[in-house]
Amino acid sequence: MKKILVINGPNLNLLGVREKSIYGNQDFLSYFEELKERFSTVQLEYFQNNSEGILIDKIHEVGFEYDGIVMNAGAYTHTSIAIGDAIAAIQTPVIEVHISNVHQREEFRHHSFLAKNCRGVICGFGLDSYRLGIEALIV
Ligand code: DQA
Repeated sequence: MKKILVINGPNLNLLGVREKSIYGNQDFLSYFEELKERFSTVQLEYFQNNSEGILIDKIHEVGFEYDGIVMNAGAYTHTSIAIGDAIAAIQTPVIEVHISNVHQREEFRHHSFLAKNCRGVICGFGLDSYRLGIEALIV
């Protein structure tokens, strides 16, 4: 069974509460249950944290063992050379995902320090971006 970890970074624990016009009404844990049902042949796990170093520790922990990581690093996407380096350091492929289309938003959201080291990037499909990220890892 393939092992895939979904990682959410800062403020994504507030999905369903936070800026609903951008990020929608659904909380992530209920969406994650739907993902687990849909991908019943995949061992799907979820991790969320608001701290950069803890996200990096998690990437190191799973990055030589799991078959894939789907990562929404939130605002750290646009600021964190360290998370970009962590992704470069591991063997597990990472798909960068975003709920919103970051390219339709403020200029500072257009650049990613992660993308170069990721297998690919998916953005703008709402929560469905995570499903598409998993699909990309299991083909
Ligand atoms: C986000 C986009 C980021 O720019 C923002 O800081 C987030 C969420 C998204 O999923 O659309 O926190 O990663």
